[in-house]
Amino acid sequence: MSTIVTATTTKVQTIKTRKLKVIKTAILGMGSVNRNLLKIIADKKERLAEEYGIVFEIIAVTDSTGIAIKGYDNDSGFDITELVNHKENGGSVSNLSSFEIGSFDSKEAVISILNHLDVDLLFEATPCCVSVVLANKGPLIQAIDELLESSASPSSSEEEKVGQARRNQGRAGRLEYSATVCGGLPILNIGKRDMIVGNITKIQGVFNATSNFIIDAMANGSDGSKGITFQEAIQIAKDVGAAEADPSLDTDGWDTAFKLLIIVNTIILKGTNSIKLSDITVEGIDSITPEMIQIEAERGNSIKLVATADIDNEDENNNKYSVRPISQPINSFLGSINGWEMGIEIHSDIYGISYHKLYEKEPIPTAASMLRDAVHIFGSPQ
Ligand SMILES: NC(=O)c1ccc[n+]([C@@H]2O[C@H](COP(=O)([O-])OP(=O)(O)OC[C@H]3O[C@@H](n4cnc5c(N)ncnc54)[C@H](OP(=O)(O)O)[C@@H]3O)[C@@H](O)[C@H]2O)c1
Repeated sequence: MSTIVTATTTKVQTIKTRKLKVIKTAILGMGSVNRNLLKIIADKKERLAEEYGIVFEIIAVTDSTGIAIKGYDNDSGFDITELVNHKENGGSVSNLSSFEIGSFDSKEAVISILNHLDVDLLFEATPCCVSVVLANKGPLIQAIDELLESSASPSSSEEEKVGQARRNQGRAGRLEYSATVCGGLPILNIGKRDMIVGNITKIQGVFNATSNFIIDAMANGSDGSKGITFQEAIQIAKDVGAAEADPSLDTDGWDTAFKLLIIVNTIILKGTNSIKLSDITVEGIDSITPEMIQIEAERGNSIKLVATADIDNEDENNNKYSVRPISQPINSFLGSINGWEMGIEIHSDIYGISYHKLYEKEPIPTAASMLRDAVHIFGSPQ
């Protein structure tokens, strides 16, 4: 379905009116990430139309109270600003006038940008032309191989043509999930798109801001004057909003392992012989003491929770995957990833060693990554 939209700003009025593709969109979950995504969609509406020829129309939203549906044939969908304000003022989806009790029929929508869903819904969606953009790691941890197979997520121009042909025949949706690892850092895209005929030999990264804060607090306390225990440091991380009520997935290393698994399976193994969590040696930060941090600091080092993949491109049985606290020179790339930062270094046979780092406090870059994925699926540049 497409429509002509007459642009309203002075800048846009000067360009030729173009035929726009209307993307009927379901937003599953109205938490911090999806609310930021909606705000960006509203703020960038003209740019999306002008530069990529697309308009997002929100036809369904969910939160933990249920689902509100405007319906596929509704011409305008929800007013995005009203929707976000409603939620941010303490409203829930069940207070919306269009609230329905029921579940989302994935066959109705063209795209679902979602944060909460189960794997079965995904399996239903992509083969039926519903494209999905994901920030939630859960389904990928559960079934990344099968999900990649059931969607037409292209990784080369040849596959892109095949995927496009399937889409043209109405046979496949696409699954994109660059927001699931390191927020706004386009690491999956770099690995999938930009390392053509290159072999990745090693990746190392710091992916978990909660651990950065806790280790830092253990070294410096709240006022920078003295070291404190792991438990005391958790409270400080909670106070600055860097740790959830139960931060064990972060401190035990599993959040970092989830991200490593998605990165390795997407850009190194590329959907064949995917690794599982049991292939990763995982050690958290709970055994670190203030004394250990102090000794390393005197040596000019800092301790970071580091994910590593050592890749043997001749024999993948020799590949090694780990998550563990590692002492790094304080001025090195990994040793200097602090606070709200995340970073990754990629070693390659022909692309050298590249270093990528992001500061992300609010999940605006994560939300922007979801939009980026959606535009890659649906947009057609001018
Ligand atoms: N925040 C980040 O920086 C970040 C970065 C990368 C990835 N992620 C991932 O993105 C996802 C969302 O993160 P978030 O920070 O936006 O989470 P959040 O603020 O906790 O929001 C979660 C949303 O999902 C809704 N929800 C919960 N259970 C549901 C269900 N069964 N059906 C439908 N909706 C349900 C909640 O409803 P109520 O509003 O009614 O509670 C809420 O609107 C998570 O998987 C997270 O790991 C987050």
